[in-house]
Amino acid sequence: MIELADVCYAYPGAERFVLEHADLRVEPGTIAGVVGASGAGKTTLAKILSGFIPHVDGGELSGSVVIAGRDLAGLSLSACVRQVGLVIQNPFNQISGARYTVRGELAFGLENLGTAREEMADRVTQVADLLGITQLLDRSPYELSGGQQQLVAIASMLVLRPPVLVLDEPTSQLDPAGTRMVFGVLSQLRESGCTIVIFEHKLELLHAHADRLHVLAGQRIVASGQPGEVLADPRTDEWGVGATRYTRTGRLARDRGLGPVAVPLPVSFDEAVGFFGGGPR
Ligand SMILES: Nc1ncnc2c1ncn2[C@@H]1O[C@H](COP(=O)(O)OP(=O)(O)OP(=O)(O)O)[C@@H](O)[C@H]1O
Ligand SMILES: [Mg+2]
Repeated sequence: MIELADVCYAYPGAERFVLEHADLRVEPGTIAGVVGASGAGKTTLAKILSGFIPHVDGGELSGSVVIAGRDLAGLSLSACVRQVGLVIQNPFNQISGARYTVRGELAFGLENLGTAREEMADRVTQVADLLGITQLLDRSPYELSGGQQQLVAIASMLVLRPPVLVLDEPTSQLDPAGTRMVFGVLSQLRESGCTIVIFEHKLELLHAHADRLHVLAGQRIVASGQPGEVLADPRTDEWGVGATRYTRTGRLARDRGLGPVAVPLPVSFDEAVGFFGGGPR
């Protein structure tokens, strides 16, 4: 269980708070999506959830951040890292720089945890296979494309098997196939009990994979619910979240007096078929 209560935060020396009285609750073994406009504070919230704020970035943090019954304020950064794996927004910055190959990079965090050599090799092989990056294992992490680096950054957290995984726009540099693959892997992880918080703009995939969706706007979480409900909310534009192509089409149709009035706007293709009254030919 992740529980943020009444969280306020300002960066060091900043005049305004990025978060004010923010609350968030994520049930264990679920995928929570968080959406919000650029600059809404997604990266800031991701760092708060993983203890990087205040341990690394400093600043003024109040309220409580409790993960699996433990308040992060009382934990050291290394204890936070064992509890929560953070995949940061820019994969280039996730590379440790301490190892010459992707294999070494993936093993680096496990070395720090004192994992036995054989176990380490097994985990690296397994995660590389899961994310389809086995062919990159002997390459330099610096010679990869942005998308490949992004997969390595995700893999470097997955090998650690943290009970909670926080991912900050982890598919921004991936093509649609790579993006679907990553969402598939996250769904598998959920099955094994991992609690996942993903900050992401790809609404259709969030709708398909997230258990709940939270909207960050105006310094706090302004809406939480089933992804379908949240994404069909008339306030998504106001929140700076946008809408799926199906919702936009439904809205346009409704504006022109087409489509049913008493049902929510569609979010997915299947819902659009129902909305527009289509059926099997
Ligand atoms: N290190 C910092 N010091 C001061 N202000 C910062 C710092 N990092 C971010 N901010 C400010 O905090 C606010 C939220 O930034 P944040 O990066 O969390 O937003 P975001 O939702 O992740 O944006 P994006 O979608 O562009 O990644 C912005 O106004 C930003 O300028
Ligand atoms: Mg960000």
